Amino acid sequence: VEALRIGIAGLGTVGASVVRCMAEKEAELTRQCGRTITVTAVSARDRTRDRGIDLAGAQWFDDPVDLARTADIDVFVELIGGDSGPAFEAVKAALNAGRHVVTANKALLSKRGVELAAIAEDKGILLNYEAAVAGGIPVIKTMRESLAGNTVERVFGIMNGTANYILTRMEAEGLSFEDCLTEAQRLGYAEADPTFDIEGHDTAHKLSILTSLAFGCRISADDIYMEGISNITQADIRAAAELGYRIKLLGVAQRTDSGVEQRVHPTMVPTQSVIAQVHGVTNAVAIETDILGELLLSGPGAGGNATASAVIGDIADIAKSRPGFQHGPVFGRPAKKLTPYKKAR
Ligand code: NDP
Ligand code: HSE
Repeated sequence: VEALRIGIAGLGTVGASVVRCMAEKEAELTRQCGRTITVTAVSARDRTRDRGIDLAGAQWFDDPVDLARTADIDVFVELIGGDSGPAFEAVKAALNAGRHVVTANKALLSKRGVELAAIAEDKGILLNYEAAVAGGIPVIKTMRESLAGNTVERVFGIMNGTANYILTRMEAEGLSFEDCLTEAQRLGYAEADPTFDIEGHDTAHKLSILTSLAFGCRISADDIYMEGISNITQADIRAAAELGYRIKLLGVAQRTDSGVEQRVHPTMVPTQSVIAQVHGVTNAVAIETDILGELLLSGPGAGGNATASAVIGDIADIAKSRPGFQHGPVFGRPAKKLTPYKKAR
């Protein structure tokens, strides 16, 4: 079997970890997939930067769209970020060129995911995005595949590692909001613009993707009620603790009689509850369904290795897939059959 050739655009926290982990686990991946996976092309902004990874053997492209369109690759891996510009153009170009795509970009999927899914489905190729929601936790596969036949009533949880890291350290160590955010950035947890983490946008992007998978509707993050954690003070955290609560930034989506309710906001959760025990960069997603009942998935929600784990899993799925095999729809049902999003009154 021929090697699977991949092109990676974006060699920052996630991209560099993907290259490093794939090199370290090359033999294991070859054994598991039955073929080798080779990075044949890469792209980032600064060609001269030492990233601590071996890029010898990979062709360099200054322009990710050029890579997506012209490189000798089977899979395009988008790890740039942003809901428009080069990330969108490159993913669209790769799909139109018939190349599978793997992305960790929830902002892009939230805004353009249905449009991109329609291209992938028309072409019979894969658009995999496990890393886009809750880092290393396999929540997309769980919702798309393992919960087939279930009717989801509610999905909620902690979906932003940076915010949970900040709240955890503010409470446990009395540190300031600013110091905790700086540390989350240093550890590679935060978005390029950390406003997305602390004001709730990133949770809203992830929630909107889970909402589509849960309720079969088109993705809509535009009118999610959203409140972040930037105004949370030590006094708020102490007051909550005195009452027996912890403050967590939650995303909640649930079915109601009038439509789907989606909201993101700091929430007081009882100190003894399972969700209150989710600390640091850990994320947790709870899914309530009719057949299964309540499911809680938790694990590392951000950072290079956690995210690389999910990205590599998506690449390995493609390496293992049979040529000509018709893959399931990107968002659980065909993009053209997703119902319009109806907001709860
Ligand atoms: P970084 O900012 O660390 O890396 C972004 C990379 O994209 C850099 O290598 C940068 O190049 C490159 N880049 C930016 N603009 C361009 C461009 N115009 N052309 C080519 N390359 C470009 O981001 P992360 O690795 O943290 O995140 C990447 C994606 O993964 C984002 O969508 C993010 O939301 C998502 N994600 C991140 C997680 C995390 O924990 N960090 C977790 C889950 C998802 P250069 O290095 O030269 O500046
Ligand atoms: N900035 C994001 C977070 C990365 O902190 O959760 C993972 O999506």
